Amino acid sequence: MCGIVGVLGNHEAAPILVEALKRLEYRGYDSAGIATVNNGALRRRRAVGKLVNLSDLLVHEPLAGKSGIGHTRWATHGAPSVSNAHPHRAGAVAVVHNGIIENYKELRAELLNCGMEFRTETDTETVALMTERYLKEGLAPVDAAFRTLDQLEGAFALAFLFDGEEDLIVAARKGSPLAIGHGDGEMFVGSDAIALAPLTDRITYLEEGDRAVVTRAGAELRNARGELVNRETKTIQIDATQVDKGGHKHFMAKEIAEQPHVIAEAIRHYLPVEEDAVRLPGEGVDFSGVERLTMVACGTAYYACVTAKYWFEQIARLPVEVDIASEFRYREPPIPGKTLALFVSQSGETADTLAALRYCQEKADKILSVVNVPESSIARESDLALPIFAGPEIGVASTKAFTCQLTVLLALALKAACDRGHLSPEEMSEYATAIRGLPNVLSSALEQNEAIRLAAQKVSEARDVLFLGRGLMFPLALEGALKLKEISYIHAEAYASGELKHGPIALIDKNMPVVVLTPRDSLFDKSVSNMQEVLARKGKVLMISDQDGIDEAGDDVWCAIRMPRVKEALSPILYAIPAQLLAYHTAVAKGTDVDQPRNLAKSVTVE
Ligand code: F6R
Repeated sequence: MCGIVGVLGNHEAAPILVEALKRLEYRGYDSAGIATVNNGALRRRRAVGKLVNLSDLLVHEPLAGKSGIGHTRWATHGAPSVSNAHPHRAGAVAVVHNGIIENYKELRAELLNCGMEFRTETDTETVALMTERYLKEGLAPVDAAFRTLDQLEGAFALAFLFDGEEDLIVAARKGSPLAIGHGDGEMFVGSDAIALAPLTDRITYLEEGDRAVVTRAGAELRNARGELVNRETKTIQIDATQVDKGGHKHFMAKEIAEQPHVIAEAIRHYLPVEEDAVRLPGEGVDFSGVERLTMVACGTAYYACVTAKYWFEQIARLPVEVDIASEFRYREPPIPGKTLALFVSQSGETADTLAALRYCQEKADKILSVVNVPESSIARESDLALPIFAGPEIGVASTKAFTCQLTVLLALALKAACDRGHLSPEEMSEYATAIRGLPNVLSSALEQNEAIRLAAQKVSEARDVLFLGRGLMFPLALEGALKLKEISYIHAEAYASGELKHGPIALIDKNMPVVVLTPRDSLFDKSVSNMQEVLARKGKVLMISDQDGIDEAGDDVWCAIRMPRVKEALSPILYAIPAQLLAYHTAVAKGTDVDQPRNLAKSVTVE
């Protein structure tokens, strides 16, 4: 949700900034801008829309200079427009910001009182104007930035660049991630290590409240109390090919195709071949005395939690509560003793999920998280972070992170079942064998790509689509509907199949495609009865099942997609593939922007 970058380099900064912003564009893409200092003069360029518009502008109006900052925006305060685009400049300072300044109205009133003039509708302009005011009062740039930071409330990652200062960026982090990159005689600042990957692999992550005075010689860090601090500099391994499309038309297509491979990686870590037991990192966790599990997340990660609830309850007999983070955080839910709290997040930076985690910190017995970014705030603030090994996910719609989250959550549920005496070694071994077979099963599911593409051509003509599923297929139906609406903009809703006759059946007519996710499992007959209710009302059923299921009940359906058979508990991981491919091909057929759908951003660091 907004990406920021900064460079104090030995080469022209503008192309480096634009390249780094490309790798951050997943965080927002409604406008972009850069500022540089050249021969002491601070100048900027900004453009509305995708980054390519900024690149075009820079061809006609280049910006020289070896020091600079850049920003790609996901609008919070103020519509996407050139004047609201970052960097925001006031006199001798330019600022880029990710997050929200919560007290900006009070600060704005104060600045207006001092006669300062606002030109934008953004909260960030307040930061620039306040810094400029302190500069005019005679403060040095670092002091002016620090004095400003002292007054800011809310969540932010900020970088300041100053007129006349070619060797200085001031950076700060509170609630939004920020990394400092160390080059040879060059220094970098970025919202994440991916942005800086080709520039340097030596990264220092700022901690909450940290401020950095960055020069080409290095970074001087201070904590929130103003004390000088040392933060570890790590060598991060990010393979540059992980952040390109690898020959696919879209990142989403690449990430869907990568699933057999990344899931194999997750399985290798959690179910090592030499043992039929789940291995957790660090000290792990013992579920034997646990009385309740509270799981919290947003969006797709939330649907992974809803799926896992079935596993923890059915296999491990552990009561589970699942909640949407934005609701959980303000409901003040009681957390009884012997509760484990588990937070699931691809980015590890989602503001609501992080706030929910912090709410649980003093109350739950232990805080666990399932994350894709091991250096993220959620991972770092957990007692035990379980990485999902999905690799960078660039497509805004989550795909491989979802199935990797499911894989790790299933492993955790099996661990809980073993700890609580609900799974014999033989049963555990059966699960282990089935899970190790998943990568192959997913590969054969991917072979249905063409059949799904043809079905998607038909779906792309619909105005509304319903998704139905029972048991473990219900959360998958929710996820399938979310995927379809977010990238194809077709209205889609999901229901537990049994709920159909309690209302939504009124929507069924000959124009309504209904996607029924129904492997030939223990709930198949029930699910097929509900499917018949749709067919009886001339609904167009897109049945996703296995060969047995289709042979048995697929006669009158609009189209049928054939999945391989898997052990029942594993079916959500498998059935995610057709749900994702259906959304993908529908979006492609409609010509929407698959990787960067309108209004969305990948990392939601504002509430
Ligand atoms: C949908 C999607 C979102 C995210 C949600 C949580 O495809 O990607 O719904 O799942 O914004 O994000 P994380 O997992 O980063 O906390």
